[in-house]
Amino acid sequence: MRPLIAPSVLASDFANLQSEVEMLNRSEADWLHIDIMDGRFVPNISFGFPVMEAIKKHAQKPMDVHLMIVEPELYIERFRAAGADVITVHLEACHHLHRTLQQIKATGAKAGVALNPHTSINLLEDIITDVDVVCLMSVNPGFGGQKFIENTYRKIEALKNLIISRNVDTLIEIDGGVNKQNAPLLLNSGADVLVAGNFVFSSEDPIRTIADLKKLSN
Ligand code: DX5
Ligand code: ZN
Repeated sequence: MRPLIAPSVLASDFANLQSEVEMLNRSEADWLHIDIMDGRFVPNISFGFPVMEAIKKHAQKPMDVHLMIVEPELYIERFRAAGADVITVHLEACHHLHRTLQQIKATGAKAGVALNPHTSINLLEDIITDVDVVCLMSVNPGFGGQKFIENTYRKIEALKNLIISRNVDTLIEIDGGVNKQNAPLLLNSGADVLVAGNFVFSSEDPIRTIADLKKLSN
């Protein structure tokens, strides 16, 4: 199967956001990955609702919203209203993950859980049946353009085994440092969705780069 490709808008040119989003509309990108950082859960601040709404105005593809924020349960409905189609919260930021996932689903969005590089797949055992997308961080969240962490392959395999053993159709998304070199192995290990920020937006021809990733198969 072809992977889903989710370019991370964080790496785009914010001064030309409309044309960047229009470029993604014309490309083979499947989702727009939207990184929300609060300066608390991660040591960086990205952007919030007004920018997200501006993206939504032009986007013709689903918005995959990655919340790197503490207490995400306070803002789920607002992110949905701002146009989120997938809402992903960090396992490390949720005291009541089960409740928060139901809250996301109640808005009509798909529910995602992100895991930091140090967080074990075992922690998903009692929640996997409620998760639409697991986002495995392959860098420490907070910044684009970081180096891919190799232990990710092992985690994908463990997660894939869990998904198969529980007979669910949860998607495995990989976020951080994805490029043309590691993408084939990520897909071989069981990844379904590839997020790519710098690799897409720093390339000479982002539309072509997205098409190259889309050509790979898992
Ligand atoms: C990191 C973000 C990623 C990031 C990916 O905290 O969650 O989505 O934008 O960017 P690259 O592909 O440049 O690592
Ligand atoms: Zn992200």
